[in-house]
Parts: sequence; structure tokens; C-alpha cells
Amino acid sequence: MREDWLEQAKTKEAADPWAALPDRFVIPPHTLYFDGNSLGLMSQKSRERVEAVLDEWSTLAVLGWDRGRDPWFTRSERVADAVGTRIGARPGEVVLGASTTIMLHQLLATFYTGGHILIDSLAFPTDRYVAESFLSQRGRGLESLVVVPSGPGDLLNPEDIVRCATDDVCVAILPSVVFTSGQRLPMEELTRELRHRGVMVIWDLSHSAGLFTHQLHDENIDAAVFCTYKYLHGGPGSPGAAFVHQRHWPLNPGLKGWWGSANDQQFLMPDDFRGAADTSALQLGTPSMLALAGLQGALEAVADVPVEALWSRSHTLLRFLEQMAEEALVPLGVRCMTPKTMRGGHLAISHAEARSLSVKLRARGAISDFRYPHIIRLAPVPTTTRWHDLVALVETLEELLRAEDWMAIDDTGRVP
Ligand SMILES: Cc1ncc(COP(=O)(O)O)c(C=O)c1O
Repeated sequence: MREDWLEQAKTKEAADPWAALPDRFVIPPHTLYFDGNSLGLMSQKSRERVEAVLDEWSTLAVLGWDRGRDPWFTRSERVADAVGTRIGARPGEVVLGASTTIMLHQLLATFYTGGHILIDSLAFPTDRYVAESFLSQRGRGLESLVVVPSGPGDLLNPEDIVRCATDDVCVAILPSVVFTSGQRLPMEELTRELRHRGVMVIWDLSHSAGLFTHQLHDENIDAAVFCTYKYLHGGPGSPGAAFVHQRHWPLNPGLKGWWGSANDQQFLMPDDFRGAADTSALQLGTPSMLALAGLQGALEAVADVPVEALWSRSHTLLRFLEQMAEEALVPLGVRCMTPKTMRGGHLAISHAEARSLSVKLRARGAISDFRYPHIIRLAPVPTTTRWHDLVALVETLEELLRAEDWMAIDDTGRVP
């Protein structure tokens, strides 16, 4: 290993008050894990919580819905509030449901007032599919989808977003962090500018929830959706989440389901929908206790760690990674795509042989991910990444780039 980098890693670790955080998680053996922006690693507490649900199910069966200190009936709301504490939401402003995709359908159905929907050309595919299918249900075609083009370097220019928010646009769907490049958008500023033009922004916080020091309530954000399986470590397929600022209460959900009922009305089973007073009116059907359990455990695992500390750790890890990448990888044909002044949680690098490089990295136990056509995303996660992991990752990348032993891989990812 490069001695100078290792020395730097040791010095940084010694100065890092949260260097031992990764011990609270299970790191797969012989693995350098840099894919926490796809799926966060499992916390020890998540296993305990999942096992506790199995115990409750086996001993209480249906009585679990209202027995004990943490009855299933209202558990989703308590876990949603705990999620809310990680993004600066007030109690009742966060709701959990099946997936981010479903939550986005729900928010559009609830807040759409007719008109165009604005989205960016780099949006995560599901956001665009939701917008298109939503418009088509309303009898509208693609002419109602305003797509903001990206500029040089595959980056979005916030001024272009504002410029595209013409009078016909009523809702915008925008990411806090672009999932490919790792570019961060100025949320407060864009929310203000777009609101001024009569546009409500629904933010997709999948790549920042649990990582950024969001203050959604105080920043007067209207609405957001996000995954809980990335930086919040909820586990594969853990609930999707939505935030709606309390000034929009009471809500008239566009999609209604019996779990959106006020708790004291739900089992009266009335013909008319009597919704909860807060954002939980957006719940649809029975929440999965098993899916919630992983998330609940993960939130407990970091309950004593301020989000500020995570964000600061993320930032310093990322800067160290970027510094080594610039020193060793850029001379070998790599481009660092993530803009230095607008960083999210991961470093995106691009290379002509990115797909092959990514396959070879994984074969060496370094898990990152590839995004078509030439991007590799490297996510140093503040909860689970160790300083020396970064050195090992860059050294592995450097070796593979020097070897230039590329594989022929077709566009579907298959090795012929
Ligand atoms: C930015 C973004 N939005 C939405 C999603 C999709 O979320 P889900 O599969 O939970 O609906 C993802 C998944 O990775 C994502 O990265």
C-alpha cells in the first residue's frame, strides 16, 4: 500500500470521533463496500429487530397489532417520526409506504392541479415513468412533461431549471442529488424560485436522506419522497417515505386506502374516508412489520449520532477519496464528474472502460456500481466506511487501470 496515503488515513482516523461507527454494522468479509448509495449495509440492531418481529409473530399472531409497548398498528407512524428526526421534519410530517415510486404517485395524485410537470433529463428513471404514466392517466401526453436538459459535464444548471418553469408548469420533481453524477442541487433556493413561479417542488431525497443535514420543516420544503434502504440502512426493499409540510394539512389524498384513516376511525370501517390529520393520511394498505424492522433497528443504531456528524464524516471521507483519485486515477484516463462545489454523498468517475472496470473491481471484492454508459459511483458512507478502505479502493482501481486488461461486455452487461 502507498505509505503516504496510509499515513494520512491513520492520521485522519485518529482525529475522527466516529471512526468506530462501522463496528455497529456488518461488513461482508473480504469486501470493500462502496455501494451504500444503492443499498446500505445491515446494522446489528436491524437483525435484532427483524428477529423480534418473528418472535412477536410466532407468540402473539394477530394480537401483535395492539399488544405490547410498540404495537404493530401504530408502529409505522412511530418509525416514520424517527425517520423525520433525521431530516428535520416535525412529528407527523413523514409517512412510510411501499416504495419511493408509490409515494411519488401518491404525492402527484394529491398535489397535481392540472398543467405541466417539470422534471430533469438526468432524473432517476422511476421518477420519469411516474410522471409520464400519471399524465397519461389524466389524458395528457408527453407535451405536458417539461424536461430540463443537462449542460456540459452531464451537470444540471439550476438557472436552466428555473428558466424551464414556465406558466404552464404546476409541479416539479427534482433530486436533492443527481443519482449518476453525485451533483447536489440548491434545494432551498430552487424551492423558493419555483414557488414564486407557482410551481410546487416534490424533491427526491433518495441520495441525501440520512446523510445531509436537511431541515425540511424549517426550510419550508413542501413535499419530498425518498428511499430508506440507502443512507438510512433500512434493508433491501425497506419502506419508501414521503414528507409533506404540516402547512398542507389536512390532506385530501389523491390515492386513498384504509390505513390513511384516522386511527380511531379505521376499525369503525365507515363508507366515507375519514383521514388522519397529518401526513399519515397518505398511507395506503397494511404496512409490512418485517420491512419496518430493518429500518427501525438501523435508526436505533445511529440514534446517538447527530446527522451533522455523519455529513461532516461523509464530506471528509469523500474529499480524501477525491484527492487520491485525482493523484492516481486521473492521469490514467479517469474523469472525476462530481462538481467540487456541489457534492452529494458519492464520487462519480467516468472512464471509457467503466463497465469492464466495474466488473473487475467486484471480482477483487471492491463493490461499487456502474451506471450506463461510462460512470462508476463510489460512495464512502459515513456509517460504514473505514479510512483505510479508501486507500485500498484507489490502489485496486489504479492496478486495474494500469493493467488495461479490458473485457468485451455487451450493452446488457453480459460478458460474451
Ligand atoms: C433517486 C432515486 N429515486 C427513486 C428510486 C426508486 O425507489 P423505489 O425502488 O424504492 O421505488 C431510486 C432507487 O435507487 C433512486 O435512486
